[in-house]
Amino acid sequence: MRLLRKKPIDSTIGPEGPVPDTAGHGGHSLGRHLGVRDLTFFGIAAIIGAGSFSSMGEACFKGGPGVTLLFAMCGVACGFTALCYAEFAARVPVSGSAYTYAYVSFGELFAWVIGWALLMEYSIGNIYVAFSWSGYFTNLLDGFGWHLPEWLTINYRSASRAAAEGSTGEGLSAWNTAPMVGGLRIIFDLPAVAINAMITALVYVGVKESRNASNAMVIVKLVIIALVVAVGIFHIDLDNWTPFLPNGFGGVMAGVSAVFFAYIGFDAVSTLAEECRDPQRDLPRGMIWSLVICTSVYIVLALVLTGMVPWSQLGVSDPLAEVFAIKGVKWMLYVVSIAAVVAMTSVMLVFQMGQPRIWMSMSRDGLLPKRFAAIHPKYRTPGFSTIVTGLVVGLPIFFTDENFILDFTSIGTLFAFVLVCGGVLMLPRRERTPGRFHLPHVNSRWTGPTLLAGIVALVITAVPGYFPGLLDLSGEHAAQNIPQLVFWPLALGVVFAAHMKQWSLIPVLGLLSCCWLLTGMEVSNWTWFSVWLVVGLALYFAYGYRNSKLA
Ligand code: ALA
Repeated sequence: MRLLRKKPIDSTIGPEGPVPDTAGHGGHSLGRHLGVRDLTFFGIAAIIGAGSFSSMGEACFKGGPGVTLLFAMCGVACGFTALCYAEFAARVPVSGSAYTYAYVSFGELFAWVIGWALLMEYSIGNIYVAFSWSGYFTNLLDGFGWHLPEWLTINYRSASRAAAEGSTGEGLSAWNTAPMVGGLRIIFDLPAVAINAMITALVYVGVKESRNASNAMVIVKLVIIALVVAVGIFHIDLDNWTPFLPNGFGGVMAGVSAVFFAYIGFDAVSTLAEECRDPQRDLPRGMIWSLVICTSVYIVLALVLTGMVPWSQLGVSDPLAEVFAIKGVKWMLYVVSIAAVVAMTSVMLVFQMGQPRIWMSMSRDGLLPKRFAAIHPKYRTPGFSTIVTGLVVGLPIFFTDENFILDFTSIGTLFAFVLVCGGVLMLPRRERTPGRFHLPHVNSRWTGPTLLAGIVALVITAVPGYFPGLLDLSGEHAAQNIPQLVFWPLALGVVFAAHMKQWSLIPVLGLLSCCWLLTGMEVSNWTWFSVWLVVGLALYFAYGYRNSKLA
């Protein structure tokens, strides 16, 4: 079928490694500067940011100390997915991340859909990070006695909602004090706009400069997080950990978007394939190392936060600063704010480097106009795509708000991860090549059904009312139960197929764990996501389908 035409894997790799593709680049290729340590640093740079400094608060507030379990589960789900990414990265070592992987395994239509979903992860996700960055930056300025007017530190939507709801605070103050031009209030988040412009400029001038900046930022944020943990441990009150699940497991699951957002980023490493010295060996290692380090950091951080203060006090956008404010450790407020600003700057940097490289691959394949693949002759970066990315992040800052963006990003990324794990199942087996990553092969013929039966037995024993409870579709229960009712038969079907086809266990587990995380998404998330997909498909049929190189 023409919609599912596939790019042959071998078209991307020659005997000496990746085929340098300079078509449409004006004869220039990207510079190869990165090794395992750089890639691991890039991974950490992309992962630890707004998720830990901002959205972790919301997750703790909803789920209590039990949110630690969700961090562990998301870490495991992302771990399986990272292994699948690593397998692809070792086979298809060109820029483009999951987009390229889908092109060789599922075909063009799916590749486009994934490229479209990744836009939500890379660009839309950065909008949330920019808002969070602005929050901490403004606090920092306030600490030094420089106060920006409220109408320059909040987005229009939040301010107008605050005015409509009559809620007091920054939003209402911004609404009441904003200057008017032609009947319109001027309210926008200036620091968020400014950081986006600065990051765009940095990425535009080159990967080498960006790498040095990113490595320095990672060291600063890891050292300061270690300090937060070291100081925080002395303020832990064990009573705060009971009850561990104050709002039940449903409360924990309500934090999926916020927790999963904290993990997004390990896959950004795979967009740098063409800037690695040895992508088939180093990309998988960089991805897995960064994920292991960040999962450990998150679990410890969640335990420390929920141990320091009662979970009900964590429903704020700057939880790491809040716990020290409550405990009266004033000097830590500055330390945390500086770390937050640094951490989020590095997240934005990596994502803003990743997005243009995905577009570059899509453009080479003919799915986007040629200009998206143009490499700047002096800086050797995808210049045009970098500027478009800056606009895609920068313009919505004027008319969206952070909560909407958080959910939207998480659902799109999980969707892309599901396709990556499924894609690995479609790949043909290959011979082992020394020095390259190989996904450990465990046959799921019997391990798959045994694991599923074990999990079901565990759930029935630990939570006897769980399965009967799923049949309750009254009122608000429907929103929670319908996704679960879809999940369990799906899990059964996948495990049955895995048994019959003797699929490899790790991608099966990745697929199912990401599908399970998707059950935590609300109906409104699905609605927006569907609209987003329909728009993407319309664009594909209007442009990509006809202009594809495979057409
Ligand atoms: N994981 C990244 C962050 O938390 C997106 O900011």
